[in-house]
Amino acid sequence: MYPQFPPGFRFGMSTSAYQIEGAADAGGKGPSIWDTFTARPGAVRHGQDARVASDHYHRYASDVDLIAEAGVHDYRFSFSWPRVLAGDLDFYDRLVDRLLASGVRPVPTLYHWDLPQELEDAGGWMNRDTAHRLADHASALVTRLGDRVRDWITMNEMNVHTLYGYALADHAPARGLGLGALPAAHHQLLAHGLAVRVLRTHGAGSIGVAQQHFPVTAASDDPADVEAAAIFSALTNWTFSDPILLGDYPDELIRAGVGVPEAQLDRDLELIRARLDFYGVNYYEPTMIEAPKAGKDYSGVLEVDIPADMPFSPVPVKSDERTDFGWAVVPAGLTDILVTLRDRYPDLPPVIITENGASFHDSPPGPDGRVHDERRISYLDAHLRAVSDAITAGVRVDGYYVWSAIDNFEWAAGYDERFGLIYVDFSTLERTKKDSWFWYRDLIAAQPRN
Ligand code: FCB
Repeated sequence: MYPQFPPGFRFGMSTSAYQIEGAADAGGKGPSIWDTFTARPGAVRHGQDARVASDHYHRYASDVDLIAEAGVHDYRFSFSWPRVLAGDLDFYDRLVDRLLASGVRPVPTLYHWDLPQELEDAGGWMNRDTAHRLADHASALVTRLGDRVRDWITMNEMNVHTLYGYALADHAPARGLGLGALPAAHHQLLAHGLAVRVLRTHGAGSIGVAQQHFPVTAASDDPADVEAAAIFSALTNWTFSDPILLGDYPDELIRAGVGVPEAQLDRDLELIRARLDFYGVNYYEPTMIEAPKAGKDYSGVLEVDIPADMPFSPVPVKSDERTDFGWAVVPAGLTDILVTLRDRYPDLPPVIITENGASFHDSPPGPDGRVHDERRISYLDAHLRAVSDAITAGVRVDGYYVWSAIDNFEWAAGYDERFGLIYVDFSTLERTKKDSWFWYRDLIAAQPRN
């Protein structure tokens, strides 16, 4: 009945600091770029912000209990960089201890998009020095937690952060630089490389990165569409994985006219290609691309609009089913991208699906006290089967983490989009396990014993 995975396969749940913690000013914490962004009129749906979010900072202990009760092996969360900068590491100390005491392995991410505003004021990811600051951040954390934390993820979705925050202006820090955003990508990759070095020096047991990947298909076999799709995929997928897994940038970058003007490129690439213990893949949906057709209106196809002067245009992916966020439900895309990664990278480390999940606008608990989210269950079931198909095709996948443990602040979309296995009533902050939580618990319990 439940999809089956090899013994030792790790099930987990994921979250990120900014989306759940709240406690915006606790312990002298300064603002991040997301605090600045959410304060801008019109930036976030309904003008919402994350000052309280899911209030996990104050409710972490009972949240960990809810996570642990599902029987997950791993919990992926991230550190709030501004909180760490303010010296408030006690919170993460307590969180890690609680997880370990509950038998759950902490898998923290150093950086999940909430850059301290003071670093943005100094140039943010367009400034090379930010990469060195990330290494300092890594050092502070591994020094404090390295005796108990074995698994580390450096960065989350450098591609989405670069595309939405630096190339476009739909996420913080809303720079809108177009193809000029490439240095932000390079400096995040450099930060990743520097962080790997710091973590290794401190004896970290297992190091990876979480990258969003998706298949990009051409709308037709017209060579212009095929080339547009190749360029789009290079910019959004391979620019972020080739340097790590091959030690070079993809050729299409040069065809698209975006060089990476870095005096120290060779030395940087040497750092960036540092060996990893696992490769995290976040998957949501595929993308379809065509060469821009004169006079055609492309607005509203992606969640964000790509400027008209780009050499590619997204068109709707054919799918009978969409989440309430409007994302196409295409489980086979996950098998497809895993096989593609294996074929492209001979030295691909074991993969962990570090995020996968769906937003449905769940109704609050009814008279039976339950949240019935059948569509989320069938989404997760289908995607786990897609992972299993990839394993059958010979891709080594060692784990799968649901995005997300708990309903949270979905960036520019605010609180409408609910990805959690645990429902949050954002007026009372009360938690309720959704039916998908019970389903996930039973699926984990039904796996062969390790
Ligand atoms: C990913 C992000 C994560 C969450 C999911 C839905 O791109 O990494 O924080 O917002 O999408």
